[in-house]
Amino acid sequence: MRELHMPISKALQPVLNKLNLTGVDINSIIGKATDQSQGDVAIPFHRFSRELKKSPQEIAEHVANQIRPELEGIGQVTSKSGFVNIVADPSWVTKRITELSMGQNCGISRDAKRKVVIDYSSPNIAKEMHVGHLRSTVIGDSLVRILESKGCSVIRENHIGDWGTPFGMLIERMENLKTSGVKPEEALSDLGEFYRQTREIFDSDDDFRMRSRNRVVKLQAGDEETLVIWRQLVHISLEHFKEVYELLGVLLTDKDIMGESYYDPLLPSVLHRLNESGLVEINDGAQVIYPGEWVNREGEKLPLIVKKADGGYNYATSDLACIIDRVERLGAEDLIYVVGAEQKQHFEMVFASARLGGFIDPNHTTRHVQFGLVLSPEGGKLKSRSGGAVKLLDLLTEAVERAEKSVAERNPKINPEERSRIARIVGVGAVKYHDLKADRNRDYVFDWDKMLSFEGDTGPYLQYAHARINSIINRNKKDGITNGSMIFNLREDTELRLAKEILRFPESVNIAARDLAPHRICQQLHRIAQAFGAFYEKCPVLVEDPILRSERVSICTITGTVLKTGMGLLGVEAPERM
Ligand code: ARG
Repeated sequence: MRELHMPISKALQPVLNKLNLTGVDINSIIGKATDQSQGDVAIPFHRFSRELKKSPQEIAEHVANQIRPELEGIGQVTSKSGFVNIVADPSWVTKRITELSMGQNCGISRDAKRKVVIDYSSPNIAKEMHVGHLRSTVIGDSLVRILESKGCSVIRENHIGDWGTPFGMLIERMENLKTSGVKPEEALSDLGEFYRQTREIFDSDDDFRMRSRNRVVKLQAGDEETLVIWRQLVHISLEHFKEVYELLGVLLTDKDIMGESYYDPLLPSVLHRLNESGLVEINDGAQVIYPGEWVNREGEKLPLIVKKADGGYNYATSDLACIIDRVERLGAEDLIYVVGAEQKQHFEMVFASARLGGFIDPNHTTRHVQFGLVLSPEGGKLKSRSGGAVKLLDLLTEAVERAEKSVAERNPKINPEERSRIARIVGVGAVKYHDLKADRNRDYVFDWDKMLSFEGDTGPYLQYAHARINSIINRNKKDGITNGSMIFNLREDTELRLAKEILRFPESVNIAARDLAPHRICQQLHRIAQAFGAFYEKCPVLVEDPILRSERVSICTITGTVLKTGMGLLGVEAPERM
């Protein structure tokens, strides 16, 4: 509870002064107590032991005795093992929770007015989307919501791979199939297969390979007949992606598509600008720049190839054009890329090149939001039963089917229509939450039973807590107890604990926004839901005393609102009932 830090440092300052510990940044030593039964915040005194020639225990005990508890916010002060532990004063907690309930947006402050572009999802045309794209889509979508809630103006960009040499062979193959009477939709009904087969022909058939190379030239030259097939290819692939996006319930729409092809006409100007700054060198016939100290396995300095010896441009060149476009056309200040960890070096080199070339200045930030792999429970990368790549649509469909079974088990009387509506929310929510809850830098294991469980740190657990709160509120509404009063009078331990966890929610959003780490919000929501469980067990809501009852309904109401808001930031829907 950061709001507690102010009164605490006020209370501590005179005590530290008396001990001659001046120049200590108090705020930097205040932390969250690891053992919540001891206090809400803890201050360690071990580091002053040598200077004061006293044991940490003695110092902490002395400080605890000197702190004047009458300062607002400070409740019980104790010491243990060299820490001073401070409990927030219950009336202060009550006041804060009232403010949070009356205010906007569950206490999330809108203080970041940056213009941000988030590049996420970004699958490749005529290829199946894989789980890496799922991660990018889910994490990126959550970051959009989090940064918007903090007041940023966020532009979504789906940087699809829709240009480059592979399109020669794909277009050629489409054309061949068309002449033999196969409809384009049919040919592309299985994108992964289409790509794999085309690749096979390309590798084995000299004639096809030559025609494919010709196609690339035609595509680059804007040959209309070639462009028609290209557009078809793009269109049909996008329909496949859209199906996944719709099922996932993400914010991405057609308007957010900014594929590599868009930047193609801008590539010569990238080279031109780099040349003007004198950065371009010739290396084996290619035009390259050396953005920094990256080396290859042989220890040679690694160039960023801007234009290949054969005259073609590169993925990196396209990303440089893209930076120019985002900064100069869109006016972006912060550039965020949600892409797998395997592209780490690519982005480091591109960002360094953009700085060297003067495309961005010190006011701009560039961040590669990387993430780990999705592993199968048996170990290794997640694979389908047949051993190939997992199709996202199949995976999400299975999630919904499994969720439908457990919804039916828990609630046999529910009508089929509502059951399937809730199953989609629960199944997809489970997959998303499971993806978001771990530190994104780590790999995670895709475990159906764990993610779909209604117990533990899962999406369904949060959704269920929210739905249960909703039903408590509705039950009270029937008795004429509404939640309009929002008057709190926190007494019980479980009430106070729940209120404190709720007060920590806006802080978790701040940290998630700062570190681009949605899992910090997951952690806090899970704690809130757990604290709610403990509260509900100890503090019945349906009590005789109407005032007490209304206070408890108020606690339920703010808990439900915070859970729903928080899940909203993760892109996880919260059904009203389950
Ligand atoms: N299409 C690429 C892939 O699937 C990801 C693109 C990421 N965005 C970017 N601006 N490079 O690997």
